[in-house]
Amino acid sequence: MGAKPMTTDHARPAVTATAMRKAYGEHVVLDGIDLDIPAGSVFALLGPNGAGKTTVVQILSTLIRADGGVLRVAGHDVVRESDAVRAAIGVTGQFSAVDGFLTGEENLLLMADLHHLPRRERKRCAADLLERFDLVDAAHKPAATYSGGMRRRLDLAMTLVGRPRVIFLDEPTTGLDPRSRRTMWEVIRGLVADEGVTIFLTTQYLEEADRLADRIAVLHRGKLVAQGTPEQLKRQVGGGHITLRFTDPRGHDRAARTLDVMARDDDALTVQIPGQGDVRSLRALLDRLDHASLDVDELRVHTPDLDDVFFALTGNPVAEQEPTR
Ligand SMILES: Nc1ncnc2c1ncn2[C@@H]1O[C@H](COP(=O)(O)OP(=O)(O)OP(=O)(O)O)[C@@H](O)[C@H]1O
Ligand SMILES: [Mg+2]
Repeated sequence: MGAKPMTTDHARPAVTATAMRKAYGEHVVLDGIDLDIPAGSVFALLGPNGAGKTTVVQILSTLIRADGGVLRVAGHDVVRESDAVRAAIGVTGQFSAVDGFLTGEENLLLMADLHHLPRRERKRCAADLLERFDLVDAAHKPAATYSGGMRRRLDLAMTLVGRPRVIFLDEPTTGLDPRSRRTMWEVIRGLVADEGVTIFLTTQYLEEADRLADRIAVLHRGKLVAQGTPEQLKRQVGGGHITLRFTDPRGHDRAARTLDVMARDDDALTVQIPGQGDVRSLRALLDRLDHASLDVDELRVHTPDLDDVFFALTGNPVAEQEPTR
C-alpha cells in the first residue's frame, strides 16, 4: 500500500463519460449520458426504478459494455484499460456480495485473499475494518444473522479492502431504517473526508442525495434531465411546504385568507403554505396563527422528495420506468 498522491488526484476528474449509450434490444436505456465527476467528490445519480442507474454503474465498473460513448474512470479508458479501472475501483452493488454462511471476519479475509494481501496484513486489514464499521461484536457470527444495516456496512467494508480510489455505491441505503440510513451516511462522509476517495452513488431518495452529494444528476427516459448542486436542484424543484389542518370550516376559511397559501382543500380543511419547515419560519408561522387566534388541528412539514423532483422536471409524477413497447 503506497502513499496516495491525493493532491494531484484532486485536480483530475475521477469519472468522465461522453455520449454513453446502452440499449437492450429495442429498449434504449441510456440515450447519451455525459458525466464529469471531480476526484474527491460525491456524485449522486437519482432516478426511479428502471431509470438505468444500475446500468450506468455496471458500465462504469466494467461489468457490462456500453454500446457507445467515451468513458474514463480513475484516469483509464473503461473498455481498453478495464483491468486498470478494476484495480482502482470498488463496487457495492444493489444486491450484496456478502456470503451469509461466512462470519463478518471471514468475509473480509476472503476479500483480502482476493486482493492478494500478505498474510499479516490481511488480519490487520480485517480487524481495522471491523472496528471502523462497528462490527467487532458481530465479527464471529455468520453474516446471515446480521441485520440489513450491518450487512450493508460489511458489504462496504469488503469493498474497501482493495483500497479503491473510486467507489460505486448502488442504492446504499434502500431498505434500511432511518437510523441505519443515517449511520451509513456517516460512514460514506467519513470515507470522503478521511481518504479523499470519489463516491458515485445511486439513490431513489432526494434527501439522501441532498445530504451526501456535491453534485446530483437526475436520470429520466435515458437522459440526464437535470444536473447541479443540491441547492441548484432544490431551487429548480422548489422548496417544501407546510400543511395545516383546521377543525372547523370557519377557521379554515379565515386561515386561507390570512396566510399566503399555495393551495387549499375545503373538504379536508387543509391549507398548504410554502416553506422548508426550518425552526425560524415555523416559529413565525405559529406566532401568526396565535395572533389571528387560529386553532390548528395538525401541522405537517413536507420536504421535497423524488416525486417533487420529477413533477418539477417532467410535469409527471415519478413512475417506474418500464420499457415502452
Ligand atoms: N440484462 C438486461 N436485459 C434486458 N433489459 C435489461 C437488462 N438489464 C436491465 N434491463 C432494463 O434496463 C432498464 C434499466 O434497468 P436498471 O437496473 O439499470 O434500472 P435502475 O435505475 O437501477 O432501477 P432500480 O431502481 O429498480 O434498481 C430497466 O427497464 C431494465 O428492465
Ligand atoms: Mg438499480
